[in-house]
Amino acid sequence: MKMRFADASAGGLPAPPDSRNSEQPTLASGPGGGHLRSVDTRRVMVTGGAGFIGSHLVERLLAAGERVLVVDDVSTGAWANLAGVTAHPALERIESTVSGWSGLEEAVAGAKAVFHLAAAVGVELVVSAPRRTIQTNLRETEAVLDAASVARTPVAFTSTSEVYGKSDKPWFSEEDDLLIGPPTLSRWSYACSKLLDEFLALACHGERGVPVVIARLFNIVGPRQSGRHGMVLPRFIAAAKAGEPLRVFGDGRQTRCLCHVDDCVESLLRLWRCPEAVGQIVNIGHDEEVSILELAEMVVEAAGSASLLERIPYAAAYSQGFQDMPRRRPDLRKLERLTGFRPQANAREVVRRVVAATV
Ligand SMILES: NC(=O)c1ccc[n+]([C@@H]2O[C@H](COP(=O)([O-])OP(=O)(O)OC[C@H]3O[C@@H](n4cnc5c(N)ncnc54)[C@H](O)[C@@H]3O)[C@@H](O)[C@H]2O)c1
Repeated sequence: MKMRFADASAGGLPAPPDSRNSEQPTLASGPGGGHLRSVDTRRVMVTGGAGFIGSHLVERLLAAGERVLVVDDVSTGAWANLAGVTAHPALERIESTVSGWSGLEEAVAGAKAVFHLAAAVGVELVVSAPRRTIQTNLRETEAVLDAASVARTPVAFTSTSEVYGKSDKPWFSEEDDLLIGPPTLSRWSYACSKLLDEFLALACHGERGVPVVIARLFNIVGPRQSGRHGMVLPRFIAAAKAGEPLRVFGDGRQTRCLCHVDDCVESLLRLWRCPEAVGQIVNIGHDEEVSILELAEMVVEAAGSASLLERIPYAAAYSQGFQDMPRRRPDLRKLERLTGFRPQANAREVVRRVVAATV
């Protein structure tokens, strides 16, 4: 049997002994890496791999020598996001919804792992199409987890800081109680659907032995993020570069913690190869707070723009009732304990890098 040392890319949630199509068995590798493991040439599947975060993850996996299968319906993503690796011989692409793809069960059963990122994403999309949000987020996750149950394929699922809801805690920890707003405000449909996905993933772990890890992502930003569905940083950058006003919703004093997508992908990959992360919920984000007003000013400065800021009341910004959170800051102790890593780039650095990467 050929052996190699686990590197930054290698490893993963420990594969079950009865995984199908395993050309050679995988040995569990620890968070620090450096363990011996056998070569495992099975594919890593990435749902939503043509999206913003997914495309960065796919690039990292390919660069690390993994074979990658992307399933994406390009509803909010685009194949252009993978332009840099389209011709890569280890990349396969399927254009389909996850649940609508007839090859799903076989592909998942034969995969080394699934990163399940496909979801209805974006505040404006969620507020304007709550039915689509709920159905997509429940149906596709159920399909992935059912397929993963066949051979107990490891699944890494991207949840969201939205599940912390309206809590006014200074930072959010994975074991916190959650306080979601009422169903009459459609924006909460995203949080509720992702939270139910978390319950389902943990139930499949407990009842069927599917190795799952749940990552709650906090405001991930970076190149290729679309502003179309209400993401704040790409909207600000586009306005600043066009010399148009930056539209700040509410009074702009609400804070956010921005995490560069490279740090997010690094965190996801480290969790993937951390056996202790199986069955866990883990925050991924940066814990430096900036107000939306400060963020707008940083963007204007980094872009060398003469744009002004314009305050827009929430009622005018969104068609239906909307509630924004005053702050949303992750407790990163669990991520750090499990992976030995915490996101590095602070807000100013993130803004500088994203502005520089945006044409
Ligand atoms: N960007 C963030 O700050 C953030 C924060 C919290 C959670 N997340 C989560 O991270 C994941 C990726 O988000 P993103 O920001 O890259 O958004 P994105 O919209 O760029 O990516 C989602 C991808 O999933 C695809 N998709 C949607 N529905 C699908 C379906 N039914 N079948 C197949 N593909 C489908 C889209 O075409 C897109 O490529 C999502 O699960 C999201 O909930 C993101």
